[in-house]
Amino acid sequence: VDTPYNNFDEKMYQKISYYKKEFDLQDIDDELYIKFNGVMSCAKVYINNHLVGEHLGGYTPFRFCITPYVKTGQNIVFVEVDSTEREDVPPFGFVVDYLTYGGIYREVELQFCNKIHIETCGIQTLNVLSNRPEIKVVINIINSKCEQEKIKIVNVITNKNKIVYEFSNNYVLNGLNREELTVSGFPRNFELWDLDNPNLYYLETRIYKNNELIESVQNRFGFREAKFTKEGFYLNGKKIVIRGLNRHQSFPYVGYAMPKNVQYKDVEILKYQLGLNCVRLSHYPQSDHFMDRCDELGLLVFDELPGWQHMGNENWQTNAIQSIKEMILKDQNHPSVIIWGVRINESDDNDIFYSLTNKTAKALDPIRATGGVRCIKNSNLLEDVYTYNDFSHTGKNPGLEKREKVTRKNVPYLVTEYNGHMFPSKKFDNEKHRVEHVKRHLNVLNSVKKNKLSGAIGWCMFDYNTHKDFGSGDKICYHGVMDMFRIPKDAAFVYSSQGSKEPVMHVASSLNIGENEGSRPTDIYVLTNCDWVDLYRNNSFIKRFYPNIKKYSFLDHPPIIIDDLIGDLIKDNEPFTAKDAERVKRVLTKASRTGGKLNIINKITMGILLIKYKLTQKDGENIYTKYFGGWGSKATTYKFEGYINNNKSITVLKSQVFNPVLEVKPDSYDLFEGITYDATRVVISLKDENNNPIIYANNSFNIEELGAIEIIGPKTISLIGGSIAFWVKTKGFSGKGFLKIKSHEFGNLEYEFNVIKETL
Ligand code: GAL
Repeated sequence: VDTPYNNFDEKMYQKISYYKKEFDLQDIDDELYIKFNGVMSCAKVYINNHLVGEHLGGYTPFRFCITPYVKTGQNIVFVEVDSTEREDVPPFGFVVDYLTYGGIYREVELQFCNKIHIETCGIQTLNVLSNRPEIKVVINIINSKCEQEKIKIVNVITNKNKIVYEFSNNYVLNGLNREELTVSGFPRNFELWDLDNPNLYYLETRIYKNNELIESVQNRFGFREAKFTKEGFYLNGKKIVIRGLNRHQSFPYVGYAMPKNVQYKDVEILKYQLGLNCVRLSHYPQSDHFMDRCDELGLLVFDELPGWQHMGNENWQTNAIQSIKEMILKDQNHPSVIIWGVRINESDDNDIFYSLTNKTAKALDPIRATGGVRCIKNSNLLEDVYTYNDFSHTGKNPGLEKREKVTRKNVPYLVTEYNGHMFPSKKFDNEKHRVEHVKRHLNVLNSVKKNKLSGAIGWCMFDYNTHKDFGSGDKICYHGVMDMFRIPKDAAFVYSSQGSKEPVMHVASSLNIGENEGSRPTDIYVLTNCDWVDLYRNNSFIKRFYPNIKKYSFLDHPPIIIDDLIGDLIKDNEPFTAKDAERVKRVLTKASRTGGKLNIINKITMGILLIKYKLTQKDGENIYTKYFGGWGSKATTYKFEGYINNNKSITVLKSQVFNPVLEVKPDSYDLFEGITYDATRVVISLKDENNNPIIYANNSFNIEELGAIEIIGPKTISLIGGSIAFWVKTKGFSGKGFLKIKSHEFGNLEYEFNVIKETL
């Protein structure tokens, strides 16, 4: 079921569906398992008509042993998937501000295992900053014959195929079906995993029986120490202020079902485009591909159990506990994960239940911090970190509350959401609204450092489809700093300007006064990491502007606020002395900002100046029109030149639009189909001659595919706020894929993709 972009009945995917697949087996002497990485939200799995198991909960993996039910030759796996919102399964039972979609949306695999094999392997790195670092490996062994066995376990740590360290232990399995063993080693000479150098290692765990290798699994991990303290968050002993956004795992049209490279892309956007150091997986565990990429790029992760405000009955709670276990077993080896969220997002205190969730997490992972996202003050802290959704900012008050006001105890503290529904903003809202959105994100970031918090994670990365009870009435919550297609709104540049390693300069204005109330000019926010900006008007220098450290003293890169588009132009071009030109400018600026409402002093000043220079009132009005209105003149071009370390690093030009340009940008022209299909995003934007997005463009297109690719979603689309995107996916074979974008205004544009189907 493809869901529309907006305006649909969420019941459309809430159904029971059935999947069937035939597979051939020859000479079965292994133990066979079927593993599902994610089925939304409940699954009953049958092999050759035998029910082999049922799983409740759509965000964590599960596997069933199918050995007794398979046969040589053809077999059938049949899955009944319940995507209705069952009251016994978190997050359901009341309302939820996001859609949960349905179906088998992550990979499924058949596992051929030895009778003695490793089910999970948890790797903990301890004391990595000391002179005796330790690696502790918790191995869950399945011994399906349940016989006592002497085994040897060898652990080999490698990096780029070189052995770094090896340790081994002998064991006697005691004959239970499942057994947990813990082994430790003390490696040296490794590089730490951190945000700039996310060094990763592999641990290969081998089992030998009678000197014969019978099992070997490989897990990737990193050496690092992540600590929350009252003073803030420390990674490898270095203080880091967490700056992140919340992410849902949804996409237009396909809900949760997106393959590896699309998951990767979201991490790349968070890390590189938005310059963040953290993401919160709101409000459930997400794709392994997403997690892998966070490890590879160095992006911290707040991982949390599924749930949203509502807490259900005993059954429901049992399922929640089970999902914590599954989350930790799935994600424990990712160095990027720094905290487990073990409370239902924004639920009330429940000491009995939350003692159990904390205990469950600590039993599996004694090292990582726990948190639990609440929106209540002074709640009982059973976790290591008080994690709080602070929606106090109204645009007129400080960005965040002081920690002392939220929790009286001096404890580690992290803000896990802010803004969001307090100021929904669309990419195509008017400029005043969009700039207010920008300011609110700036204000909160400024407060984070001022209040010396561990950091803050905003709501949210991109807009998302939601239930009828939330959003703007079209089933979309416009809470993102990007739209649903991951195309940035102005507020996205608040983040890029703080964290990007590249020069950033986003002028959050089209400089058209007609966009403003009463055509009055306003301050212009330039989101940038430049040291200063030189502003030119039609190539005449106006003024040098610096970051506004007065208003945003705690930001690494305060915005540059431009409040003067005239500079010395009146002085240089009109018959006034420097002092009088300044006076004229002041009065006319006042007139422009107030819509001509001048007080008596301004009026007298202007009158005296006109008389002094023998000018009429009409002359005065003409000066106003020339410098403030710009009517009738040839198009005004503003040039913003940004300097970093005395070097001109980035230039933005703003002028009127005469010849719009259609920009089509695929994320990649190469697609690789492996275990699943691959997909890539194609972004279409209408730009002006100076590469600025034309926000109010809504041109429409017909899109067509040919060959090895297929378009996801509708084939007639129109720009939404100047841009839109869609994804194309592979179809199961190698070859060329062709995409045609047909437009009334821009003709036909064609793009060629290369699809390679890997032979498995
Ligand atoms: C929070 C909630 C989020 C989202 C957000 C909107 O209360 O945790 O899931 O609904 O509000 O601002």
